[in-house]
Amino acid sequence: MSIQHDVKDLKLADAGREAIEWADRQMPVLRLIRERFEREQPLKGVTLAACLHVTTETANLARTLKAGGANVYLAASNPLSTQDTTAAALVKHYGISTFAICGEDNESYYSHIKAICDAKPLMTMDDGADVVSYLHKERRDVLDGIIGGTEETTTGVIRLRAMEADGVLEYPIVAVNDASTKHLFDNRYGTGQSTMDAVMRATNVLIAGKVVVVAGYGWCGKGVASRAKGLGANVIVTEINPIAALEAVMDGFRVMPMIEAAPLADIVLTVTGNTTIVSGDVFAALKDGAIVANSGHFNVEIDIPALEAQTISRKTIRDHIEEFSLVNGRSVYLLGEGRLVNLAAAEGHPGAVMDMSFANQALCAEYMMTNAKSLEKKVYSVPLPIDEEIARLKLHSMGISVDLLTAKQEKYLTSWEEGT
Ligand code: NAD
Ligand code: ADE
Repeated sequence: MSIQHDVKDLKLADAGREAIEWADRQMPVLRLIRERFEREQPLKGVTLAACLHVTTETANLARTLKAGGANVYLAASNPLSTQDTTAAALVKHYGISTFAICGEDNESYYSHIKAICDAKPLMTMDDGADVVSYLHKERRDVLDGIIGGTEETTTGVIRLRAMEADGVLEYPIVAVNDASTKHLFDNRYGTGQSTMDAVMRATNVLIAGKVVVVAGYGWCGKGVASRAKGLGANVIVTEINPIAALEAVMDGFRVMPMIEAAPLADIVLTVTGNTTIVSGDVFAALKDGAIVANSGHFNVEIDIPALEAQTISRKTIRDHIEEFSLVNGRSVYLLGEGRLVNLAAAEGHPGAVMDMSFANQALCAEYMMTNAKSLEKKVYSVPLPIDEEIARLKLHSMGISVDLLTAKQEKYLTSWEEGT
């Protein structure tokens, strides 16, 4: 049977397979789940529409879902994050219907989302909630057949909770992002490392001694700030939340409003999940040669129309770097078109963290199969037993064991009589 697809070039498939297998070596928890899924077939016959970054790590998730019996239809969750080699290998070597081409325009991006929805899924798997949003707005005919879904990232969970609050969400979704084994590791260590990796790959600038402004001190921001500091940068954090700001201060960072940080910045990195962080005023205040990039989910954190409005000329300097010459005589360098730079200009998070994120995805898909009937049209947390099991398996794969509570300790922790 021919596999439906729209990828750049199937001739890239062999290179893609090598890279997928390389990533798989870093994903022991997902591998264990894949082996069990092969035996138990918990997703047998399930058509699953997945909209995720098409990377080697995602390929290993897709293999796992397929091993569990699912018919997987995969589209990209960002126009710039697709690895064309991976997409080709998914079709040719792993028999997975894939619709993703790096650099696709908006029309092609949505034609790919349409293609996976045309498969009439029983379940959805999103990174950013574009499929859920599309189904609710454009394809209500498909909604009736869907029993549930999962969501990978902070911004997607925010959108879904807004749908739930408005009473418009039509099926239950598990918020994978909210699992501890997801955001504590993926958002923090994954985004921290891969964002700095992307800035360095794209620009080859020395980070040591640079002033790096990190907007947002949530899970991703903590990771980015800590990795930039580790590379020798002088890090300034901007925040709107007083608790997060205080945390940044006590972690040793300078904290100030973005408009005050802008003239000091050599590099500005946004990870807020919010809009218009680098606004027109901020661009006007940046010094000559400042580099600006975003690792938040959507390309709204850097106000590109406001940048264009004060631009005299622009040119591509090299892959992933565009120079904007401004009316004030200065130049600003934008990385990865303001899209999540760690996936646009590097390879996203390493397999070792995606191992836990995607173990959550696979186990939550299985959970949805057995529990969907009893769930309401709401956003649900990942069940604690799943979260803890993933942590246990990850520790085991690292050869690390931990102490067990003794009976005496367990009793002490549940009693109130003992004191001073
Ligand atoms: P979070 O909610 O933990 O943190 C966001 C922080 O930004 C919060 O502390 C919030 O107060 C702050 N913030 C909001 N508006 C701000 C403003 N105007 N100025 C300064 N700070 C502001 O979220 P997170 O988990 O860190 O995720 C952040 C974004 O990164 C989301 O869009 C998420 O989907 C995305 N994400 C990207 C990747 C990736 O691979 N690039 C991975 C995980 C998450
Ligand atoms: N999000 C961040 N890094 C990723 C990766 N390597 N694969 C899929 N999604 C990601």
